Amino acid sequence: MLKQKIVFLGAGNMGEALISGLVNSGLAGKGQIIATDIRTERLVYLKKKFGIQVSENNKKAVQQGEIIVLAVKPQQIKGLLGEIGDWVRKEQLVISIAAGIPTKYIEKFFQQRVPLIRVMPNTPALVGEGVTVLTPGKYTNEKHLKIAKKIFSAVGYVSVLPEKLLNAVTALSGSGPAYIFYLAEILDEAAKKMNLPEETACELVTRTILGAGKMLKITGESGRMLRQKVTSPGGTTEAATKYLQAKKFKEIFIQALFKARKRAQELAPK
Ligand SMILES: NC(=O)c1ccc[n+]([C@@H]2O[C@H](COP(=O)([O-])OP(=O)(O)OC[C@H]3O[C@@H](n4cnc5c(N)ncnc54)[C@H](OP(=O)(O)O)[C@@H]3O)[C@@H](O)[C@H]2O)c1
Repeated sequence: MLKQKIVFLGAGNMGEALISGLVNSGLAGKGQIIATDIRTERLVYLKKKFGIQVSENNKKAVQQGEIIVLAVKPQQIKGLLGEIGDWVRKEQLVISIAAGIPTKYIEKFFQQRVPLIRVMPNTPALVGEGVTVLTPGKYTNEKHLKIAKKIFSAVGYVSVLPEKLLNAVTALSGSGPAYIFYLAEILDEAAKKMNLPEETACELVTRTILGAGKMLKITGESGRMLRQKVTSPGGTTEAATKYLQAKKFKEIFIQALFKARKRAQELAPK
């Protein structure tokens, strides 16, 4: 169990996923968590759901926490740091989950040498199946990394990589769940066009994605290997994949990820 008091500045989708992971795993008690937001309805909802403390005052909340999690949108980071920068102390640990915002940029707002860790989690954290990559800031030591690893382990897998790779991670796993949801959306539409009953189709799509994910995890085999195994010559899978290949689906998808990485780079304030 963590001993520190954790403050979430911004309590939207990702903030909630992390709070949920911390509370449900028992890593932090509800009395140890404070969440702030500019949306009162979010605070009312989170207080009711998790029994945590809530506040509309970022400065006050920062003074009460030992670990400060920056969980607002990247475009809101500058405003938030302008508000709290002078109040953050070197004894605290700051964790930023904001996509594309470099550690150097955040550190400039603090008056002291504050330990900072930039992380890229993803929303399956909400169901304990998140993946998170961490990167340390300038004043971070092993002890800080250990605390951050502990927090994000409560909601899934954790790895550490150099900061120059974080935007690629953002494109891959940060945005990744949405690509799979998009695939589910496409499969739903195809099922409808093929006159499958909606309720059954929904189960088929969900369980196909879940089952394929489990096979990747349990067998340890690559996507390419598993795909080749289920593709018999002249069969139905081959008919579909040949069509996708002819339409350059793979190239288009890879380009889409490069677009996501570029967008993460653009989010870095000048
Ligand atoms: N969602 C993901 O899949 C995902 C994955 C990895 C990383 N992230 C990162 O996580 C961060 C949060 O994303 P999210 O999807 O959780 O966004 P979100 O749902 O919009 O949550 C952010 C919340 O913070 C509020 N807020 C804005 N300014 C604030 C301030 N100064 N003080 C306190 N609260 C403030 C927002 O209110 P308003 O809505 O009124 O602005 C909103 O309720 C982002 O930086 C994103 O890059 C997200």
